[in-house]
Amino acid sequence: MKNKLLCFCLVLLVSSVYAQMGYQPSSGNLEAREEFRDNKFGIFVHYGIYSMLANGEWVLENEKLRQSEYAKLAGGFCPSRFDAAQWVSAFKASGAKYVCFTTRHHDGFSMFDTKFSDYNIVKATPFKRDIVKELADECHKQGLKIHFYYSHADWGREDYPVGSTGKNTGRRMKENWDSYYKFMNNQLTELLTNYGQVGAIWFDGHWDQDKDFDWRLPEQYNLIHRLQPDCLIGNNHHLAPIKGEDIQIFERDLPGENKAGFSSGQPVASLPLETCETMNSTWGYNIKDDNYKSVETLIHLLVKAAGKNANLLLNVGPQPDGKLPVATVERLKGIGDWMRIYGETLYGTRGGIVRDWGVTTKKKDKLYVHILDWKDKVLFLPVTDVAIKKAFVFKDKSKLSFIQNKQGVILQLPELPSEIDYIVELQLKD
Ligand code: GLC
Repeated sequence: MKNKLLCFCLVLLVSSVYAQMGYQPSSGNLEAREEFRDNKFGIFVHYGIYSMLANGEWVLENEKLRQSEYAKLAGGFCPSRFDAAQWVSAFKASGAKYVCFTTRHHDGFSMFDTKFSDYNIVKATPFKRDIVKELADECHKQGLKIHFYYSHADWGREDYPVGSTGKNTGRRMKENWDSYYKFMNNQLTELLTNYGQVGAIWFDGHWDQDKDFDWRLPEQYNLIHRLQPDCLIGNNHHLAPIKGEDIQIFERDLPGENKAGFSSGQPVASLPLETCETMNSTWGYNIKDDNYKSVETLIHLLVKAAGKNANLLLNVGPQPDGKLPVATVERLKGIGDWMRIYGETLYGTRGGIVRDWGVTTKKKDKLYVHILDWKDKVLFLPVTDVAIKKAFVFKDKSKLSFIQNKQGVILQLPELPSEIDYIVELQLKD
């Protein structure tokens, strides 16, 4: 009996020690998380040799192309009009605070100079320039953070254990997980060593393998945090966050939604949140896709994301020549023009009420009411936890009448709200 009790106590002790061995973010990492939340808006860039085929980044898989033929695209990849300064200036002018670039997508082509595969932009193309380096340097110069998208799945390498996609690329299959895992970690080490401070590593492709596949994420996450403790880790696995992750990603859904069909197994966590979305319908450049969302729709998305406490990571797919499509540049400018006037109602705020008519965001003693779609001159806000001192229209600071009671606040609007986002600022009592 005594022995049994001793054993039981030992098990308890070991398991509690083990539980405490979990990931402890550094103080710099915790600060980076808050800064990430404050930043609200980032630009996603899907660019690779697939851009030349102008049919999205999944063209190798979707068109059932052979990897050996596809790889020949590299020999013709020479984006003569690529100019990192132009890209970053356009991103910055949109009001975005960070850029997430596809360093290596599922096609397995590395858009950076790597010692661990010759299938890369410097060794395999006539361009011979490290786009990731030029972009990272320019982001650092212009004060934007650089994040790196990195695919876990690979449709070309022989050592990658073939998953649910990439089955038709005609590669020889010599599955060797240890070799592939080592390859990824070597590349991640390069990305976190040669490109200055990296804001985040953005993984994708986890969904390619069965649920019980062991990606050995804790060790990989550990490596990243060892190299750059402040670097945030996110993974587009469409699941609840896994230990070691610093942000939670949603694909084409705002947190809590499941419109796109990716988010059903994904409860909203307390980590900083990010929703990624395309500007048209595809991520990589697609010559037929002119299904662009309007500036108004994109601003609504950004505002709704903020109301749900999430960032918007808005995608652009540059052309084969390295230029951003004109439709993209116009939209970036349109969002930027709006952000210059109204950005302070989003940056640095935290989410609040989410209703059909819009959302609220909050920063210190200010509560911003974003009215996106409302047909009346009176609006009820279920705000009960704060007392309102003053209310006014954000754009011209004209005072508004309001009534506050136990149920909430009734706002009286001087006109029918008809702007992209009619913003009311409420000053709160301490
Ligand atoms: C999906 C796609 C991928 C794209 C990503 C962006 O996971 O597989 O092509 O890069 O979404 O969110």
